[in-house]
Amino acid sequence: MVATTLLSAAALAGIALASPINVARELNKNYKTDVTIHESCNATQRRMLEKAFADTFEVATVAQEYVAKNGPEDPVFQKYFGKEKAAFATVLGVWESLLTSDKENVIFRCDNPDGNCGQVGWRGHWRGDNATQETVICDASYTDRYYNEYFCMNGYTVAGSPLGTHWSIDLIHRMFHVPSVTNELVGHYSEDYASALELAEHNATYSPMDSDALQAFAAHVYAVEVAGGGDACIGQPAESHDHSSSAAPASSAAPAATSSAAEACHTHADGAVHCESDSAASSTTAAAAAAQTSAAVSQDCHTHADGTVHCV
Ligand SMILES: *[C@@H]1O[C@H](CO)[C@@H](O)[C@H](O)[C@H]1NC(C)=O
Ligand SMILES: *[C@@H]1O[C@H](CO)[C@@H](O)[C@H](O)[C@H]1NC(C)=O
Ligand SMILES: *[C@@H]1O[C@H](CO)[C@@H](O)[C@H](O)[C@H]1NC(C)=O
Repeated sequence: MVATTLLSAAALAGIALASPINVARELNKNYKTDVTIHESCNATQRRMLEKAFADTFEVATVAQEYVAKNGPEDPVFQKYFGKEKAAFATVLGVWESLLTSDKENVIFRCDNPDGNCGQVGWRGHWRGDNATQETVICDASYTDRYYNEYFCMNGYTVAGSPLGTHWSIDLIHRMFHVPSVTNELVGHYSEDYASALELAEHNATYSPMDSDALQAFAAHVYAVEVAGGGDACIGQPAESHDHSSSAAPASSAAPAATSSAAEACHTHADGAVHCESDSAASSTTAAAAAAQTSAAVSQDCHTHADGTVHCV
């Protein structure tokens, strides 16, 4: 009996040693909240990406602070995320995760390891099963994405222009695809701005985890709170005809209305290709014009795990 008891104790001890749950963690440890910019990025690409990620964290911080300070009853919050009980803490947590989760081994690279950048108009893609922590930024991104200062310029509206017009919103989208950033919480439950609003109004369960709703909300609060764009910079979705606010003219003046708008697609990990008119390509700004003239129609798509392709 004694021997058996000792063996049992040893077995328990062994289990305890194998799984030391109740050991104090190193709470002051340094960890990496920034992504890694891969060595394949040259000096220009690195400088541009560093600026783009600074923009990304600025926009995400504004979004998180807006939610924290204005609460779940705020009309802009409810416009994108609905009225369900879980929405407030979920959305707050998504921004907190994006900002503070451990980005060790989350890599953005500038080479073309999967050969996707050769496809017309691809501006980048999540590497999916080939490397779940990695994202490729293709050369085309450097010529037609805008920094935060460009918000509300040249007819840009949150509702009428592509979500990925600015580096910050585009990189938020790309970070959501990296599993470790939000523990795979955020996904694609709507197709575009209008359907994200539709989801929030009528079927909001997934709105707080919807990539497009989160991107659009971040763009909206940045446009109003930081860029000072007001109603004119929010605009109206193309599909919406039920309002007669002062924002309507801005919508018709949006870059999306131009005929040279590029179709931008990306393929999700599940294989889905998701495409969206990327009229940023039609901008008339000097910075982008030179690089844009060659691509009247381009694609920026990624394939989801289920095989669907998603273009932005
Ligand atoms: C970096 O790469 C881009 C795209 O290939 C190229 O246009 C640019 O000249 C390069 N910059 C430097 C500093 O090598
Ligand atoms: C993964 O690599 C294969 C082979 O190189 C390529 O065909 C496929 O498109 C890549 N997947 C992604 C998501 O890029
Ligand atoms: C609600 O949204 C979810 C996620 O997009 C979708 O699967 C479901 O079919 C929707 N339900 C209704 C009633 O529209």
